[in-house]
Amino acid sequence: MGDALRVALAGLGTVGGGVIRLLDANRDLITRRAGRPIEIVAVSARDRTKDRGVDLSRFEWVDDTAALASHPNADVVVELIGGSDGPALTLARTALDAGRGFVTANKAMLAHHGLELAQKAEASNAALKFEAAVAGGIPVIKGLREGAAANAIARVYGILNGTCNFILSKMEAEGRDFAEVLAEAQALGYAEADPSFDIDGVDAAHKLSILAAIAFGTQPAFGDVAIGGVRHVLAADIAQAASLGYRVRLVGVAEEGANGLFQRVHPHLVPLDHPLAHVTGSTNAVVAEGNFVGRLLFQGAGAGDGPTASAVVADLIDIARGEYGASFAMPAHELIPAPKADSGERRGRAYLRFTVQDKVGVLAEIAAAMRDAGVSIESLIQRGEAADGGVMIAIVTHEGPERSVEQALERLRGSQSLVGQPLLMHILG
Ligand code: NAP
Ligand code: HSE
Repeated sequence: MGDALRVALAGLGTVGGGVIRLLDANRDLITRRAGRPIEIVAVSARDRTKDRGVDLSRFEWVDDTAALASHPNADVVVELIGGSDGPALTLARTALDAGRGFVTANKAMLAHHGLELAQKAEASNAALKFEAAVAGGIPVIKGLREGAAANAIARVYGILNGTCNFILSKMEAEGRDFAEVLAEAQALGYAEADPSFDIDGVDAAHKLSILAAIAFGTQPAFGDVAIGGVRHVLAADIAQAASLGYRVRLVGVAEEGANGLFQRVHPHLVPLDHPLAHVTGSTNAVVAEGNFVGRLLFQGAGAGDGPTASAVVADLIDIARGEYGASFAMPAHELIPAPKADSGERRGRAYLRFTVQDKVGVLAEIAAAMRDAGVSIESLIQRGEAADGGVMIAIVTHEGPERSVEQALERLRGSQSLVGQPLLMHILG
């Protein structure tokens, strides 16, 4: 049995508490699998007096979180604070510069600074691991970095935010209100410190940019992700989608094409015969299409203390075994900057919802905007009263250029006939 891998743990919230509980519960098994014990030696958070439901008295408490990077008794720093910059980034930079292993669940930091941190890790020959940063407990990073390493990946897409999926599937199953269900997701520990990151699609975009870098061998390009969230999806949209044979899901898609790397997070209508339509609650699912392996589907718990801790400790076990390589599946200098693909070039089908005044000529106005932009309508449904007093019109388009749909919407956005903004959801092809 080797010497213990000694861990300095920064952040004792949902995930940090989960890591302590997991290491306690599975201590012997983990020691046998890792070939050595994994022991927390020091911890840090903001409030020393907070009851966290775990016994912290056996660990050294360090007030200055940044000091964990140079703690004399630690081999590895685990960062579970969050935030793209601030104390998390300081800790990452100093720990990696000092040649310490670094494990994090912080997708915001990796999306913004992943390339720099990977370069630092390589320069000091330190491990940089972040399985928990994408899709919670699902070993999708390992799956792509290792299991699918022999493949060229054409497309990676999936449900990457547990909070949104929890909200959408609760709204669908129980017909409940958006705000009420969000509060429930927050209480369960799924939501980010700033829940707008979840519901506006930013968190899923952070994860998508990390996945895309690993899948395509490109530099993480969070700024190139087109982002839309679920804030404006109504229960009526979900019901309408169901009547058409779809479920509404927030889906992130990354695809390499001739004109660059396309990355988008947006609410989609997912056909009922697609596996993503059956992913409910805080579950995540990622599909990767490899040129030799075919379609891979990774599915499991995408958020919460237990699943996320499972991924964090898996990284620690890899480090304890000495099994770690390039963080983004190839050395940082091999990651290429990919040009951003123009989404207007894409073709697809779309769901459009308008809330309009119930007056003569409104339908003709919408139809004319579609006609002039070259959008072909597959179906159109008008419902009576919408919540805000207008009438709801839902349109499903035939396949066509996305640019045409954007042009039609642009023209209609200024219309006096519309009550509120139209909603666009792409249909997963
Ligand atoms: P959390 O419950 O809010 O916990 C954050 C912890 O960081 C708290 O212990 C807090 O201290 C500490 N902290 C905050 N600011 C600090 C500072 N300036 N200096 C020192 N400590 C500070 O967050 P979480 O849900 O565990 O998430 C942690 C990380 O995991 C984030 O990057 C998140 O995106 C990621 N993640 C979360 C989940 C999930 O399901 N929750 C899943 C995957 C990834 P106090 O407790 O003293 O306030
Ligand atoms: N807030 C994130 C989510 C946590 O809801 O998916 C897991 O990354």
